Amino acid sequence: MSVIVEQIKSRLDIADVVSAYLKLEKAGHNFRARCPFHNEKTPSFFVSPSRQNYHCFGCGKGGDLINFVEQIEGLDFMGALEVLAHRAGVPFDRGALKTDNTLDRLRTILEDATYFFESNLTNDESAQKYLSERGITTESIKKFRVGYAPDGWRVLSEYLLARRFNEEELVLAGLVIKKEDTGRVYDRFRGRIMFPITDAVGRVIGFSGRVIVTSEAEIAKYINTPQTTLYDKSVALFGIAHAKQAIRERDRVVLVEGQMDLVMAHQVGTTEAVAVSGTALTDRHLLALKRLSNNVIIAFDADSAGVTASRRAVDLALSLGLEVRMAPLPSGQDPADCIKTDSRIWLETLDKNIHAIDFYLAEIRRSETNPRTIKQRVSAEVVPAISRLPDALEQSHFVSKVAAAIGVSEMPLWEEVKKRIVPMPRVISRAESVEAQKVEAPVSRLSMIAEKLLGIYWWTNDDDILQQAGEYLITLKTKLMPRQNELALKAEITYNEPKRAMGEIRTLLLEFKREVLREELEQATKELRQAEELGNAEAVDSALKKCQDISQSLHLITL
Ligand code: CTP
Ligand code: MN
Repeated sequence: MSVIVEQIKSRLDIADVVSAYLKLEKAGHNFRARCPFHNEKTPSFFVSPSRQNYHCFGCGKGGDLINFVEQIEGLDFMGALEVLAHRAGVPFDRGALKTDNTLDRLRTILEDATYFFESNLTNDESAQKYLSERGITTESIKKFRVGYAPDGWRVLSEYLLARRFNEEELVLAGLVIKKEDTGRVYDRFRGRIMFPITDAVGRVIGFSGRVIVTSEAEIAKYINTPQTTLYDKSVALFGIAHAKQAIRERDRVVLVEGQMDLVMAHQVGTTEAVAVSGTALTDRHLLALKRLSNNVIIAFDADSAGVTASRRAVDLALSLGLEVRMAPLPSGQDPADCIKTDSRIWLETLDKNIHAIDFYLAEIRRSETNPRTIKQRVSAEVVPAISRLPDALEQSHFVSKVAAAIGVSEMPLWEEVKKRIVPMPRVISRAESVEAQKVEAPVSRLSMIAEKLLGIYWWTNDDDILQQAGEYLITLKTKLMPRQNELALKAEITYNEPKRAMGEIRTLLLEFKREVLREELEQATKELRQAEELGNAEAVDSALKKCQDISQSLHLITL
């Protein structure tokens, strides 16, 4: 067990692991980023390659690379180990570790189903023909593990039941439906092209299935996995596992609507694309993306549904402080059509991306000629977007721009913007709500200094610090042990070089001793007062002596 942990830690670097999720900036010997665990504007999340740990000074989360994967992927310890072991190329047999729980079984079912669909596609000519007619290459089919669910009522069920999964589990995985009256189960996906939806690590959590025969009018074009333990459409993003690296590297994410759009986009090199799979974009989708990049380009279908959906997406993304740009496609097209017809048009459209607010402004100016109508529409359609910008400077930028464009002075426009100020939809992450409930204990000056000293001690391993500070710091050391990583990292960030910390240690030690004496003096004074109240002459004498001794030491230190 611990051998696995050691192997993982010796093979993986925390900065590499974290950078698969976040944009890391160099900060001295460390890296800095905006914390993925709470919503913040200025980065207070630090990663230390030398100590192989991380800590957020904003929300207090911290730990080693295993904790990081636990927290960011929402996994338990074993789950995180599994992900990391895989990444490190360390063999990891969960079965042998006896942690075969329900989630694991669900994952195995989904993995088996994916494999089943994949093999069915290779046997089904019409499904293959359909995909190739849509312009999807065999490489893409492989990359996204596209498959085919045969057109039968129990083909998948039989396959999985034979592999010793039970009906209950198949229902939990969202793959079969149980008939109320007969209690029999049947396959949810029948005669459909199957797109596995994965989490950011690439593990299948659900499916989206598209019909290939469109003769029956009533049939839904796409069917998706319902809400399950693993699949939550308000979090899931199709393609995220394949896109996250490119999103980070290119520092932007391209949002498309559908599965076909996504596969085609990746196929022509837009590997920073993810798809919302036709469901409403949520703050959770956007916050997950914001961890990777602050720039979103919206490339939804150029039809009325797509336009409405992108307006919502823009509002939400602007409120969350993302930089939102639009890549408007030729009217009536979606990315999949556009790429299939001429991928250059798609790539040019993406290149010409324009800020969402500029886009809305330009739209109005293009479609209206009457100056009064233009102003009315600006007030109704552009002003609310400006109001959503969480940054006053950003607002000011667009106010000036819009004022100049429609020929009004900035003042009345500002008034409109202020009037509409919409409260930022406050998205409280779990970490934040727990934090908020904690009542902050007042921090004494003594413990502040002790934390600094111990931070330097844990960073530099300089035993002198402990020896010189004396017994009381050693007591505190035991108490503060759980915060070792955090405090050491803080010291490193503060001083960068041990040399610079050493310069301050003398002062800190003096202050520490002085504070210890001050607290002792306070205590002794209290004792003195009590003794006086009780009229205990002996106790008064000894308390007085104590006070005098302490204040004399204090005086010596101050000198
Ligand atoms: N969608 C869905 N259920 C439907 C229709 C659509 O879940 N009944 C989702 C799918 O994820 C789909 C996306 O919404 O990919 C976009 O819908 P639409 O533009 O109608 O589908 P296309 O992607 O254009 O479909 P295709 O290209 O396969 O014809
Ligand atoms: Mn479409």
